[in-house]
Amino acid sequence: MPSATLPRFDLKGWDRKDIAHPYPVYRRYRETAPVHRGATEAGKPDTFYVFSYAEAVRVLSGRRFGRDARTASGGAGAQSGPVPAEYRALRAIVEDWLVFLDPPRHTELRSLLSAEFSPAVVTGLRPRITRIAHELLRQLGRNGEADLVEGFAAPFPILVISELLGIPAEHRERLRANAVALQEASTTRSRSGTGGYARAEAAAAEFARYFRREVRRRRGDERTDLLTLLVRARDEGAPLSVDGIVSTCVHLLTAGHETTTNFLAKAVLALRAHPQVLDELRGAPELTPGAVEELLRYDPPVQAVTRWAYEDTRLGGREVPRGSRVVALLGSANRDPERFPRPDVLDVRRAADRHLGFGLGIHYCLGATLARAEAEIGLRALLDGVPGLGRGDRPVDCAYADDLVFHGPTRLVLDMSG
Ligand code: HEM
Repeated sequence: MPSATLPRFDLKGWDRKDIAHPYPVYRRYRETAPVHRGATEAGKPDTFYVFSYAEAVRVLSGRRFGRDARTASGGAGAQSGPVPAEYRALRAIVEDWLVFLDPPRHTELRSLLSAEFSPAVVTGLRPRITRIAHELLRQLGRNGEADLVEGFAAPFPILVISELLGIPAEHRERLRANAVALQEASTTRSRSGTGGYARAEAAAAEFARYFRREVRRRRGDERTDLLTLLVRARDEGAPLSVDGIVSTCVHLLTAGHETTTNFLAKAVLALRAHPQVLDELRGAPELTPGAVEELLRYDPPVQAVTRWAYEDTRLGGREVPRGSRVVALLGSANRDPERFPRPDVLDVRRAADRHLGFGLGIHYCLGATLARAEAEIGLRALLDGVPGLGRGDRPVDCAYADDLVFHGPTRLVLDMSG
């Protein structure tokens, strides 16, 4: 169906209200057509936005779409890799990020890492994750106003990944600031001209110095943290350079950080807007795993993932030429009524586990099991430990980041008391 009444879709230039609640905009586009062409920019490849669940699944599974703009364009014109050439430290640091790789390197590296994110490893981590959550809540206190993002949702995942990697406690805050600066370079924020790449370049250089030193320290070490295991695997012949280890550590820090922060902050907002669901969850801990899946469907922390078309193809009735950029809008796919009946209703008892909140296909979130454990433990700690969590009549100060890819509030001030 033609979409003559709608402007070309663009992730840039949204106002704050639409960013905080993009679903009505998604619905308007999705009801018109499953795939829309984006705004054209001189010298840039065509962009197509995918709104329906079925077409998003097609983009994320199979080999017609991949991660490399140069492969897609046959090597001509397109920027090589995800970062402009002048940002050398940043380019080096993202070089071995799983999320930017195609097979065979993707398969090789993913199989090296996946054992460390298995359900058994995550089960072993649960007591430490629980301790971290309770310690943060204790520091936050139960009285007066507090920013849940700054005091809980942001430090929580960084402390967990630092624990996994074996990063000493005193270095964690510095690494968090660097992880935030790096993330900005890959988001709609930097593309709206806030100098994200320059800050990310400085953060990448500092990360490289830090992790190279940590790799040297771990040679012949008996520790069992993930960083030591990667150093040992390399020494035993695994296809991993020192820079590859540095790149992987930084990838895990950034991939598992803002995503989990945004999940927790948006889960609180969704539950405040649905006080009956919040009350039901408080009294029924066994509903927590299902609630986590439904919250990931209802308002996913990653709203959009990008691929490149490796061949001329058709998608949602449109011709998509080889070399085009294709953006799957996970937040829209998760609200597609063809897949999830009554998609705008938050229903923690529905079977929401086929949501696309963790992506799909070969790039399906490597940390999904860990993320689910963090989400359950973090949410439970908040439900049980913050009496004022659901008090909709109390003032809340909430501000969303100017970003539709990594999507969530940067500030969420609540009255903690009951
Ligand atoms: C990939 C979401 C937590 C590590 C992804 C992707 C999504 C996602 C949507 C797919 C990206 C794409 O297809 O382009 C989330 C959400 C999280 C979360 C919503 C929290 C609620 C974590 C954690 C870690 C992690 C805790 C690890 C510490 C990764 C990695 C990839 C990835 C390494 C790349 C996998 C690959 O390309 O093979 N995540 N993630 N994530 N995630 Fe997560």
